[in-house]
Amino acid sequence: MTLNRPLSGLRVGVFGKGGAGKSTVTVVLAETLHSRGYPVLVIDADSTNVGLANALGVAHDPKPLLEYFGGAVFAGGPVTCPVDDPEPLAGASLALADLPSDYVAMNSSGVWMLAAGKLGTLGPGAGCDGPMTKIVRDLRVVDLGADAVVLVDHKAGMEDSARGVLTSLDWALVVVDPTTAALQMAIHLARMTGEMKRGVAPATRHLASPRLVELAGRLFRETHMRDIVAVLNRVPDAETEACLRDRLAGGGVDVLGVLHESLVVPQQWLRGDRLQSSLLSADADTVARNLEHRCKTAVPIRSAP
Ligand SMILES: Nc1ncnc2c1ncn2[C@@H]1O[C@H](COP(=O)(O)OP(=O)(O)O)[C@@H](O)[C@H]1O
Ligand SMILES: [Mg+2]
Repeated sequence: MTLNRPLSGLRVGVFGKGGAGKSTVTVVLAETLHSRGYPVLVIDADSTNVGLANALGVAHDPKPLLEYFGGAVFAGGPVTCPVDDPEPLAGASLALADLPSDYVAMNSSGVWMLAAGKLGTLGPGAGCDGPMTKIVRDLRVVDLGADAVVLVDHKAGMEDSARGVLTSLDWALVVVDPTTAALQMAIHLARMTGEMKRGVAPATRHLASPRLVELAGRLFRETHMRDIVAVLNRVPDAETEACLRDRLAGGGVDVLGVLHESLVVPQQWLRGDRLQSSLLSADADTVARNLEHRCKTAVPIRSAP
């Protein structure tokens, strides 16, 4: 049954500095969206961090899609880095039903999970995770239903965004914990998105072929992202929240919602348990409602001053 809810069919990317809480936000948002009636797919796009499968409570770590697509170019496979080669990944539109079952995981609520791949398993010399970024940029799962929401848990920092994953998203959430580094990253990401919206071309001087230069430019020009908004995380008190809001407003970044500091979540992460926090569930529900509201009120993307 098609519900046609405000977030139906959207791809939401989660960004932020290392440890800001990207995976925590992804997990609690996935659960709340699922309980609000959306089919939800979580894509683990972080090539460095582990633990998302446990936090989501899936029975097994899904096998890396990098393997499914035949491996990275550095190891003789077909999957290239989108900076060197902006060409779309062949076969990236696929059905979960067609993937071998060990590439697909699902938790007891019914949240799906896929994983792009981890650098740690690729051995020395395979230090570029661009191929994983391309998989995440291009992957389209066709059998999730029209109302599905795809949540992409990105790697820390700006790299994935600079490689063009923003071009494949409808919304970017940037997770901001109470640190200057997290604030700076949110403001930088909002500025980068604003530049893309204004038509600033990506760096292409390294591309030899004019066709690839044109392709890279077109991919960035066609960005359809609606907005980039901050989710505050690990907020201990109202004073800290006010300070973060003030700094973000000064940098031209809107705040979508707040996840407070949980006393139980750090232990759950440490033990590899499924995340369960009534505090964060309630907070995530407000974040989801706010996102639905913003989707209905078609807010244009902001560019930083
Ligand atoms: N809302 C929160 N309250 C308390 N601790 C949190 C919260 N969010 C994250 N943490 C802690 O911060 C650590 C890093 O969070 P994580 O979601 O893994 O960050 P990221 O994915 O951005 O690297 C977690 O192991 C957890 O201990
Ligand atoms: Mg993470």
